[in-house]
Amino acid sequence: MTNKPTPSIIALDGPAASGKSTLGKKLADSLGYLFFDTGVMYRAITWIALQHDMNLRDEAAITQLAQNAQIDIRPPSKDDGRSCDVIIGEKDVTWDMRGEEVDANVSVVSAYANVRKALSEQQRRIGMRGKVVMVGRDIGTVVLPDADLKIYLDASAEERAKRRYNEIIARGEPADYDEILRKVIERDRIDSTRAVAPLRPADDAILIDSDELDVEQVFAHVLSLCK
Ligand code: DC
Repeated sequence: MTNKPTPSIIALDGPAASGKSTLGKKLADSLGYLFFDTGVMYRAITWIALQHDMNLRDEAAITQLAQNAQIDIRPPSKDDGRSCDVIIGEKDVTWDMRGEEVDANVSVVSAYANVRKALSEQQRRIGMRGKVVMVGRDIGTVVLPDADLKIYLDASAEERAKRRYNEIIARGEPADYDEILRKVIERDRIDSTRAVAPLRPADDAILIDSDELDVEQVFAHVLSLCK
């Protein structure tokens, strides 16, 4: 019997707060691969647009921003729960981009076809080099349809809202569970009903429901799929 080679291009998709980033980072570290969270790029564009008081409904202007923005993603410089540093014009915006204002507006920005085209091309270029765990919504379906392994990580909206709530509380910030749940449901709705690259599992993705599984259990399962 021949051993299957470890997959080199791993696509990890799923809805907001399903645990993709935690799993993806852990998997990438254990395989010695690059971890690339593509949501960071959509967040960065949204953050820049908000900083410049741009009209988020102006698709042409937001598209131009996505085509020209210099977003630098570097290995984490601080041990504060981040999986990478996101630098825009020398400013560390890693946590600013996780704020409520970006959360509330990022789905609008990420629904624009030409914003997606500009960012997907950059993502594909990085992914095709291999030895990568790429995390997002459309990695298995659009960005890297020939990925060696595709995982779709899901969990109920209630469980995902609970996790997000705990993360915010752990950072010492105030949080309202009901409000978070409402936003998770709204973001799911926009992400999965948009015309371009909607959130959905690829036909050949392996589906994992993490409602009843902790991080270690999901990790062990995914690692067994790689080895
Ligand atoms: O994973 P996240 O919550 O950081 O993603 C932020 C937003 O970006 C989310 O609303 C969906 C969008 N996104 C996307 O459309 N495609 C991706 N590959 C990654 C994220």
